[in-house]
Amino acid sequence: MKDRDRNDSAHNIFQYPAMMVPKVQRRLLGAVLDARPSITSIYDPFVGSGTSLVSGMHYGLNAYGNDINPLAVLLSRVRTARRVESGIGLIAEQVVIGAKADRKRNIETALPNHEKWFHDEVAEELSRLRRSIRRCDDLWVRRFLWATLAETVRLTSNDRTSTYKLHARPTEEIAKRKLSPFAVFKDLARDNCSSILAFRKQLENANNIKDSEYRSDTSVFLRDTREVSNNWSPGGFDLIMTSPPYGDNLTTVTYGQHSYLPLHWIDFNDIDEHADADAVRTTHELDARSLGGSIRGSTWNEETLFENSVHLKRFADSLPPKPGDGRTRLIRFYGDFAESLTRIIKLLSADGYMIWTVGNRSISGLQVPTDIVLSELLDGQGCKVITTLTRQIHHKRMPHRNASSATMKEEKILLVRKSEK
Ligand SMILES: C[S@@+](CC[C@H](N)C(=O)[O-])C[C@H]1O[C@@H](n2cnc3c(N)ncnc32)[C@H](O)[C@@H]1O
Repeated sequence: MKDRDRNDSAHNIFQYPAMMVPKVQRRLLGAVLDARPSITSIYDPFVGSGTSLVSGMHYGLNAYGNDINPLAVLLSRVRTARRVESGIGLIAEQVVIGAKADRKRNIETALPNHEKWFHDEVAEELSRLRRSIRRCDDLWVRRFLWATLAETVRLTSNDRTSTYKLHARPTEEIAKRKLSPFAVFKDLARDNCSSILAFRKQLENANNIKDSEYRSDTSVFLRDTREVSNNWSPGGFDLIMTSPPYGDNLTTVTYGQHSYLPLHWIDFNDIDEHADADAVRTTHELDARSLGGSIRGSTWNEETLFENSVHLKRFADSLPPKPGDGRTRLIRFYGDFAESLTRIIKLLSADGYMIWTVGNRSISGLQVPTDIVLSELLDGQGCKVITTLTRQIHHKRMPHRNASSATMKEEKILLVRKSEK
């Protein structure tokens, strides 16, 4: 899988952290579908940028997902739309022309202290792009343009691109940076248009487009997986394919911090009617809302967790007494994760399948046996791991400089079946 195409299935419209590789997911899915051709739906409860769902669309499956991060929901909705605007390239060019013609100087963001993160000229150009995007009538078009603006923000802000945590560049470097959001947005829009349209062409060639629409159902919700059961009917999904967080965001991947600046330039109403701007109230809010991010009184306490996973207990007991909160964070994360598992499994059909991709992150230099803990928790909930595959990571964008994942060079893929009770 070293020869992967970076634009495969509109993969690169935004650099979301820890994205799965579309080609790998497609191959896994193909193997499962060969064995079980009756599968018609796929569900990803931690949908991220939507890689599982677009992989499912290559096979014409109904594709459903949810995520707690509004930016993930936006990206997934752009990629999995049933209908897209084929003239998007021209529209994007018009948006840039409209922005350039705009002479207003208002800064269109509620971001506190925006001068720290954006040069004045950068903030002005982003504001003019934002006003120009708002003038477009079609919701999918605006979503596509917001996703492109999000990547423009990522590339033109003063935040470092080498880490997912917010971390401003050194002052001398900031002073030298001369970037025009107009130019960056224009180039990105061109690339994003061609990758979206190439993906649609692939769907069409596979007979998955009928009357310009994807032939099956797709839908992505802005939801916390710990509360997700009300959205769908129990037993409704044939297959779950996902890659969950491997630990609390703060000590693994700070999806929230990475999304903080881009989300400050996007109209929340265009993402989802339930999207609330409080999610970016502070740089930590989204990460605190994510699995293991805060104390929540999960029904899964240390005792129940250890009863279900002896390896989790063994690992927790092996942690050195310092740094103090490693164990607490571990238990808090797994409490939330186990609660999500209960919800997710209820949504899977009686003998449905799951494909889990996980990495073994570290705490205090010790590797958490994430795949084994997951298999034990699944076992306790009537699911059996059929096989575990190991994949070397060549490209996955993980925070290698982050001590907690410095050792993550491979990931495990668990193929799981729910028992037929
Ligand atoms: C590893 S990423 C998913 C990557 C995705 N499979 C892809 O290929 O792009 C994990 C996702 O879990 C989401 N997440 C964390 N806590 C959540 C929760 N309580 N409910 C739903 N999603 C959550 C994060 O926002 C993040 O997008």
